[in-house]
Amino acid sequence: MVKIRKLVKTLNPYVPGRSIKEIAKEYGLNPDKIIKLGSNENPLGPSPKAVEALSQNLEYMNQYPETDLKDLTEVLASYSNVSPSQVILGGDGADEILDLLGKTLIDPGDEFIVPIPSYMYYEYILTINGGVPVFAQWDMPQNKVNVDSILNVLSPRTRIIFLCTPNNPTGGLIDKKDIEIILDRTDALVVVDEAYFEYAGANNVDLLNDYDNLFILRTFSKVMGLAGMRIGYGLGNPQFIQYMHRIKPAFSLTRLSQIAALATLNDKEYIKNSIQLAIKSREYLYTELVNISDLDVFKSKANYLLLDIRKTGLDSKILTKKLMEKGIIVRDCSSFRGLDDYWIRVNVGTIEDDKKFIEVLKEII
Ligand SMILES: Cc1ncc(COP(=O)(O)O)c(C=O)c1O
Repeated sequence: MVKIRKLVKTLNPYVPGRSIKEIAKEYGLNPDKIIKLGSNENPLGPSPKAVEALSQNLEYMNQYPETDLKDLTEVLASYSNVSPSQVILGGDGADEILDLLGKTLIDPGDEFIVPIPSYMYYEYILTINGGVPVFAQWDMPQNKVNVDSILNVLSPRTRIIFLCTPNNPTGGLIDKKDIEIILDRTDALVVVDEAYFEYAGANNVDLLNDYDNLFILRTFSKVMGLAGMRIGYGLGNPQFIQYMHRIKPAFSLTRLSQIAALATLNDKEYIKNSIQLAIKSREYLYTELVNISDLDVFKSKANYLLLDIRKTGLDSKILTKKLMEKGIIVRDCSSFRGLDDYWIRVNVGTIEDDKKFIEVLKEII
């Protein structure tokens, strides 16, 4: 066997949500009948304009993609209310941007702060980049970031602080004034992850005018319905973005992804519908779930809800398995640092999906 890096040998693999294909095979189910509510995807499907644009461009897949991404960057800058020099796009979604942040900022032994529970990919990818995770606290049941717990662990080696708003998996928002308090106290990069900002109707782009150490992370995987195309982006200080460009793989955003992203951004009707349907579905799901006495449901500003299931007498492994046997995939949150074995996360589906989920869940518990 060749010599593997020590860091890779000791790394905990990232645990992604389960796929329809995998579950269909494991439980002998018809894949078309499975309802997937485990990966915060968009139940509406992609924009028809994106599908049309892709079908017209399939024959060019022999050509390399553009590298300057001028058209897409300009339209995205306008959508985001920033200038094109403040935008960077990534070709493995927002996850690629996280990797670029690690490569740009982290020397071995440098620290990054994550209030937990939060999106697990921060810890995974920054650790690969040599970073040392330092954990702060996301307060439950208040569903609020604990600002003091972050300020208390700041050190001369802190390079990045992750603030996810709405937070995945809890759904809570971070107040702008709390973000400012943290920005004022550090020279480290404060990464405000707004993967779900459209569902919350709130964002922090205005703070880019006042803070050079702010970076906003976003994605086309949620409201834009393009999770499978893997397109993410970041908004930040132009000089910092230039440094990121030095290490970004030149062709990571595929031709087809660029086309799908541009067509979706230009489909204002789709974006509006996508947001409205998810919010309607989220409020429906919340109202139904809070009526189930054995569940504690957390208010969410995103397209998913976190449920504390301990009063049901089932743990998350057993409950998710029972749901999968009936063709419903939700997220078992036991791999989230900071949560124990009694939490599941369910994303909003169509109202029909939601109804089916509630019916099956009631049957089980
Ligand atoms: C909070 C958060 N940030 C970033 C991402 C990564 O998104 P992408 O699909 O663009 O890699 C996700 C994906 O679920 C997420 O939940």
